Amino acid sequence: MSTTPPASAFTALDPDAYDQLMGRWSRRLAPLLIGFGGIADGERVLDVGCGTGSLTFALPEAAKVAAVEAVDFAAVYVARTQARNTDPRITVREADARDLPFATGSFDRAYSQLVLHHMPQAERAVTEMRRVVRPGGTVTAAVWDAFGGSQNFRIMWDIAGVIDPESPAPFALLRPLTAPGEMAATWKEAGLVDVVQTDLLIRMDFACFDDFWSPLLSGEGPAGKYVAGLTEDRRATLTGLVRRAYLSNRPDGPRSFPTIAIACRGTVPG
Ligand SMILES: C[S@@+](CC[C@H](N)C(=O)[O-])C[C@H]1O[C@@H](n2cnc3c(N)ncnc32)[C@H](O)[C@@H]1O
Repeated sequence: MSTTPPASAFTALDPDAYDQLMGRWSRRLAPLLIGFGGIADGERVLDVGCGTGSLTFALPEAAKVAAVEAVDFAAVYVARTQARNTDPRITVREADARDLPFATGSFDRAYSQLVLHHMPQAERAVTEMRRVVRPGGTVTAAVWDAFGGSQNFRIMWDIAGVIDPESPAPFALLRPLTAPGEMAATWKEAGLVDVVQTDLLIRMDFACFDDFWSPLLSGEGPAGKYVAGLTEDRRATLTGLVRRAYLSNRPDGPRSFPTIAIACRGTVPG
C-alpha cells in the first residue's frame, strides 16, 4: 500500500514566534542568496516557501523587478506576509512547492530559501521550480547545513540525542539535500545546467541565554516542536544542560554562532 508523504515537515503555528526563531536570521541570509542567484530589473521572480517574507521583501530591494510571486504551504505565514505587504508587485498565496500553481516558463527566476530540507520529495519541488522558469532563467535555493554548519541548533540536538533516545536528533541533523554535493546532484537530475553549489555564511547573534532559548519554547519548526512537546521534567533537564553549553563557564551575555547555508544555482536549458 502506498502512502503520500505530507507536504511539509515544518510546524508553523505563530508568525511572531517564527520571526523570533528564524525570520530574524533568514532576513540576514536573503541578500546573500540573491547575490548568489542573481536578479535584474524587469524580472518576474518566484519565492517558494516564503514563510513570513524574509526573501520575498528583499527581492524588490535588490532590483526593480516587475513582479514577485510568493507561495507557502502554511496559511498562518501566508496571511502574515500578505498583511505585511505594501508593494503592488508582490502577490502571496498558499501553495505546495511540489505542485506550483503557475504556467510553464512564467518566471525569469525561482528562489527558495530554507525550505527544501523541511519537505519530503524536495526533488519534486526542484523539478517544479525548473518547470515554471523560462529557458535561460535560473533556479536558486538554500538549505541550512544542519549537520555541520548550524551550531546554534546542534547544541540542543546533540544534548537531546544523548539524554533522550527517542529524540528525532538523527533526522533533524541529516536532512534532505544537506549531504555533500547533494544539492548540485539534485539540480542536475532536474535537468538544470551550469549548476554551482556554494556555502553562504551568516552569524546568529544572541543577547543572552534567554534570547537563544526562549524562541524554541514556542513550538515553531522541528526544534521548537520537539522542545515544546517534552514533559516539564525533561524540558527542565534539557534547558539546564543547554544553558551550561551556552554559558561555557562564563557569565550570561552575548554569544555569536556562525551558521552556514548550502546554496545551489542552475540554469534552465534551451
Ligand atoms: C524555515 S521556513 C523558511 C521561510 C522563509 N523562506 C524564510 O527564509 O524565512 C520553511 C518554510 O517552508 C514552508 N514549507 C514547507 N513545506 C512546504 C511545501 N511543501 N510547500 C510550500 N511551502 C512549504 C513552511 O511552511 C515554512 O514557511
